[in-house]
Amino acid sequence: MKRIPASFVPLIAFDYRAKTPMYRQLYNWFRRAIIDGQMRPGQRVPSTRGLAAELKISRIPILNAYDQLLAEGYFETFVGAGTCVAGSIPDDTQSPPAVKVRKGLEEIVEKPGPRRMSRRGVALTDMPAQSWLDNLGAFRVSLPALDRFPIGVWSKLVARHSRRPPRGIMAYGDAMGYLPFREAIAEYLGAVRAVRCEPSQILVTTGSQQGLQISAQVLLDPKDRVWMEEPGYPGARQAFVTAGAHLIPVPVDHEGINIAELIRRGHKPRAVYITPSHQYPMGMTMSAARRMLLLNWAVRTGAWIIEDDYDSEYRFGSRPIASLQGLDTDARVIYAGTFSKVMFPALRLGYVVVPKDLVPAFSAAREATDIFSSTLYQAVLTDFIREGHFARHIRRMRMLYMERRRALVEAIRLQMGDMLEVIGSEAGMHLVALLPPRVDDVAVSRKAAQRGICAMPLSFCYLKRPTRGGLILGYGGASLHQINDGISKLRMSVQSGR
Ligand SMILES: Cc1ncc(COP(=O)(O)O)c(C=O)c1O
Repeated sequence: MKRIPASFVPLIAFDYRAKTPMYRQLYNWFRRAIIDGQMRPGQRVPSTRGLAAELKISRIPILNAYDQLLAEGYFETFVGAGTCVAGSIPDDTQSPPAVKVRKGLEEIVEKPGPRRMSRRGVALTDMPAQSWLDNLGAFRVSLPALDRFPIGVWSKLVARHSRRPPRGIMAYGDAMGYLPFREAIAEYLGAVRAVRCEPSQILVTTGSQQGLQISAQVLLDPKDRVWMEEPGYPGARQAFVTAGAHLIPVPVDHEGINIAELIRRGHKPRAVYITPSHQYPMGMTMSAARRMLLLNWAVRTGAWIIEDDYDSEYRFGSRPIASLQGLDTDARVIYAGTFSKVMFPALRLGYVVVPKDLVPAFSAAREATDIFSSTLYQAVLTDFIREGHFARHIRRMRMLYMERRRALVEAIRLQMGDMLEVIGSEAGMHLVALLPPRVDDVAVSRKAAQRGICAMPLSFCYLKRPTRGGLILGYGGASLHQINDGISKLRMSVQSGR
């Protein structure tokens, strides 16, 4: 078993006035730390001599406590490695802890009280976890071509900013973000996405997920209704659930979210969440007529529109679609974007373009959440953008993803033409492939994961039960070989699931 070094002497608080002997207090402390997972199997425990010196007590109680823990199987000793937390912990530790309560002078043991969570906490845990999708195999959604990222240029810029960082980079920063970075983002969005904004409206976030979460926090009260695209982005669902919102699924068709019927019936939600440039996951673009209808209705009713423009950099057949925010004349649109797809997801940098009157609230919400994003990476990315690497990387990735998408569509046609129906426009980093009627997409996804393939079930994007299952296949991070090999494994998974 791997040994984990003990880096710190644990913080043990003795009750010197208690009747419990010191060795017993030590024994109790270590036992609880192991049960609670504070000390992990294989972790080295401090030497008796070191602990005695640190706690300023004699070694005797420590030796006694260690002997007891060894005898009961919580500790084990290894020649040359000293004493460690045992690899397998005794079974009795799994039973629920009894709570000692003082009643009068005597101590009695009672059953632990309830462990109540908020309704929002429960709703969050109700969303199905898809642990089988935690692999980096072919078709993982939202994964860019990491091996094509210009890591040499990036690491030089990181080194440049780290070598002699100005005080501003190491101290607390502005909750809205590093100003030169916000200026670069505003310029980029104005030029490429026709977003109308000033740098003062840009809130830098830890990915667009945080942008959605802060938007929900600032704009929604518990039980407020939010219209969601159906199918739609599950991450947005989670963000709105954390605000206690009541989510209403609104079907999408070939023109995007179809709100005409709900408008006619006079429904008035507090907010609408949309992905108009490239609907997630189905891939259509919202029509101009629907955009105008939505904006006019929002002005009349006072609803907020949350526009998630998550991968609009990648359109292959046509020119990029301008943002909805750029058409908005009443500052109704909150526009969220991300660097996860165009750079890499672990960078955790995104942004929100906030209407001017909402800037103080968004800034305060960010301050309350986690204060601000790492200034170092904001500064590095500013240079990456300003020096032209960003535009070059996007251009290269656009060509690459176009090639990968074509390869995927062709592989599906050749190998699975009778099983999968490809949906979506020529854009982005993923496509949806519908399965034959009555084939369970979760079962296929599980089977595919056993073959190392990461194919997200389409049903995961629905609030209601979908009429037909499908798979969301990411191609950004899959090489041509992985695409062909992945499709043949997917074919076997569908066949064995029928
Ligand atoms: C539609 C959509 N919105 C938002 C995000 C969140 O991106 P991030 O939080 O990594 O910026 C994703 C990620 O996959 C996405 O697909």
